[in-house]
Amino acid sequence: MAAPSEEFSVNANEAIRIALVQPGPNHRILTRHEFHPQFTYPIVGEAEQIFGYKGLDVEIQFAAHDLRPHVNITYEKKFQTIGTTSALDLNKTLGNFLPPIAFQQGFEKELQKDATKWTPPGVCVNKYTRGGQSYEVWAGSLLDAPLRALVDNIQILIVLFIEGGQFINLDDVDWTLDRWRVYLVYHKSSEPPTPLACPYSFVGYATTYRFYKFQKTGPEREDVTPFSFPPSEEITPTKLSSRLRISQFLITPPYQQHGHGSALYQAIYDEVLADPTIVEMTVEDPSEEFDKLRDLNDFDKLEPQFKAADIKINSSPFASVERARLKAVPTATLLQVDKLQTIRAKNKIASRQFSRMVEMYLLAQIP
Ligand code: ACO
Repeated sequence: MAAPSEEFSVNANEAIRIALVQPGPNHRILTRHEFHPQFTYPIVGEAEQIFGYKGLDVEIQFAAHDLRPHVNITYEKKFQTIGTTSALDLNKTLGNFLPPIAFQQGFEKELQKDATKWTPPGVCVNKYTRGGQSYEVWAGSLLDAPLRALVDNIQILIVLFIEGGQFINLDDVDWTLDRWRVYLVYHKSSEPPTPLACPYSFVGYATTYRFYKFQKTGPEREDVTPFSFPPSEEITPTKLSSRLRISQFLITPPYQQHGHGSALYQAIYDEVLADPTIVEMTVEDPSEEFDKLRDLNDFDKLEPQFKAADIKINSSPFASVERARLKAVPTATLLQVDKLQTIRAKNKIASRQFSRMVEMYLLAQIP
């Protein structure tokens, strides 16, 4: 017979289910998409086990349009406390990652309240189609209350799907600064599944924030410090120039691998290019998958520009290696640095990422 510790231990990644739902007929709920988390260690601990239940099912439902959450917990048997050992308090544990409305009654009723009239918060910044379906990217400031509520509802997905993903502490955000901009991707159905449902269904989102970019005040000085207001005296007259940093970026599993991540990335990037006060786009702690997405998209944009500018290595790299043994070879003798700097500034790409792109381009030229 299995020891109680084994019998009453369940794998949290299997026991937790996420469901994007819509109102159905007769006050029933229609599940649009269902998937399991990739990581649960930030919530239940390193072993990703939930102790104290047999046949446990933890369903975290989200209204597909406004992402109102609701937690549904069922189990066959709960472990009775023995000594100091007791079953994990699931409501309390999940309560650290979800807003209080997730544990309230009446979700079915709330789900259909004004759903048909609902549109995403912010403004629509891009529309595209994939597989004959329509999608929209909406963007707005985190100062906008409906957008903030939506981010608060959904942030649990950041810890469930991004390794080391960090919450935005909405209590700590300085609301006197309009620093954060949120981008949302929605599928827009031409015909919602029921007359009660909203045509908008959540696909993914990204959060971004700005940093001041200090201008060079000395020969080699170029620092970045967190956006602060009012600006300190050190900042030069071009103080408005800033960097945009992508903080959190997530496409939900049912929509991954269909180009939605690229569409979201490009929508953010287009806004960066169009905004004269943003001089560079950076990414906070990118995952390997995100690096790949970023490389593919940046390379597609830069490759024709490198070609048009006839970027190539000026002299044999091997000759340079020989010379480098005696004396460091300045990059300027190997590459057309002026041309590259012009391309980088125009495309507002961070220097390290730009160097990767140049390297990829030069490697692709080797016959
Ligand atoms: N049809 C089919 N496939 C396509 C299409 C299309 N129209 N367009 C692109 N693809 C392919 C791409 O070529 C790419 O292929 P590859 O994997 O073989 O290179 C693949 O689909 C992925 O590209 P996208 O579909 O554009 O990316 P996706 O929508 O899957 O998003 C992301 C990628 C964001 C990493 C997503 O998988 C995700 O959210 N993962 C979990 C969370 C995460 O890691 N987030 C990033 C953390 S870093 C941060 O937050 C700053």
